Amino acid sequence: MRSIELHKGAKGWIATAAWVIAWVFAAAAVGSAPPCMAQGESISLPVNLPNPLLFSNGSPVITAAQWRQRRTELLQMFTRQMYGHMPPRPSRMRFQVYDLDPHALGGIATREQVAILFDGRPQGRRMDLLVYIPNGVAHPPVILGLNFWGNETINPDPGIRISNRWIESGRNPFVDLSCVQDHRATAACRGIDAGRWPVPMILHAGYALATAYRGDLDLDHIGGFADSIRSAYPQWTQGNDNFSTIGGWAWGLSRALDYLQTDPRVDGRRVVVFGWSRLGKAAVWAAATDPRFAALISNESGAGGAKLFHHPGGETILHLNTAFPYWFCRNFRQYNGRDTSLPFDQNEVMALVAPRPLYIASAINDLNSDPKGEFLDAVAVSAVYRFLGVTGLPTTKWPAVNQPVFGRISYHVRSGGHSVTDFDWAQYLRFCDLYVKAKSQLSR
Ligand code: GCU
Repeated sequence: MRSIELHKGAKGWIATAAWVIAWVFAAAAVGSAPPCMAQGESISLPVNLPNPLLFSNGSPVITAAQWRQRRTELLQMFTRQMYGHMPPRPSRMRFQVYDLDPHALGGIATREQVAILFDGRPQGRRMDLLVYIPNGVAHPPVILGLNFWGNETINPDPGIRISNRWIESGRNPFVDLSCVQDHRATAACRGIDAGRWPVPMILHAGYALATAYRGDLDLDHIGGFADSIRSAYPQWTQGNDNFSTIGGWAWGLSRALDYLQTDPRVDGRRVVVFGWSRLGKAAVWAAATDPRFAALISNESGAGGAKLFHHPGGETILHLNTAFPYWFCRNFRQYNGRDTSLPFDQNEVMALVAPRPLYIASAINDLNSDPKGEFLDAVAVSAVYRFLGVTGLPTTKWPAVNQPVFGRISYHVRSGGHSVTDFDWAQYLRFCDLYVKAKSQLSR
């Protein structure tokens, strides 16, 4: 991708404008039509939905060995056509633990902060990983997810290092960013997004929580290339299957997992990758590409995440590629306007996660993410789980609002709009209790 050099003020203005334009586009994309929801009814899959259990030459996948081949075929196809290539783990990467407080959050947790130094140099590119570990729990499983606005925003804990990276500012429908000055966080940003990260609830359930700021990897605006991890890999950004923003975030999640697998305080074999919205798209791709992730939780990841493109509704490929032209690789642009006739779909990305535990969650008023299209993905990919000998989603009926369905694939549609709530987390923790905490489930 071409580096676009802009001076600082212009960068800020463009980022703010990009948000506003993105939201106007998003509203236009969903229109004002009421959701056509028939809860409790069995709903059928789109007729021409691609089948992950057929090779691209049309022959069926019958044996386990054939599934391994087909999995490779799918992985290569999604890499080339949609998410782009990702570089391998950097050979010089090292970890620097700069904070270890065993009495954090009033004594309930150990707080760990780690600089993941991608090229080994403290002044080089880095990602700051914040980890809370519940005290008194030996080797807990971990829930790992990127955050939108900086580690210091997820909890008011004064011990969290304040990010010195560029942060968006201006009007935002999800969080009050008035604490951000000249695109940098201030102490007033502490805890501004704590409502989406109920840290004590997660710790009390016996899980560690690990998180890093998306901006450590990719600034997520049109002028952000030079400051993003993509620019460290010029050779991976040339072709049309280029390293993308979603790819950069997924890559960063794998680098966080590299660290967690060396951390003696947690169980690095039980790391659940979680993400909301665009960071949910990244979590989906991370789980698809990195089989070390034990499970995936997709919170309203929508188009390019859990939503089936073949199901009309919500955000389109054209919108994704117009509002966020850097999110996916350039090859993906050839599919603008072809959502319902795509030669692939997201049930085939989710197939790469099978048979690992998978939670897909929607919100009924989050029309941009197409709740029904997300539900249908959970139904569709269940065929692959069955093929691999486990039950996926135990229903084909669209569940009522706030009535979660638990299985190796779990699903709920919550009341309300695009967000992450305590209700969502309560279901995720129950799902993890059922399918991640029990080691017998993981060995399948
Ligand atoms: C926009 C975008 C979505 C994305 C969302 C978010 O609405 O169109 O694809 O999921 O932002 O990340 O909040």
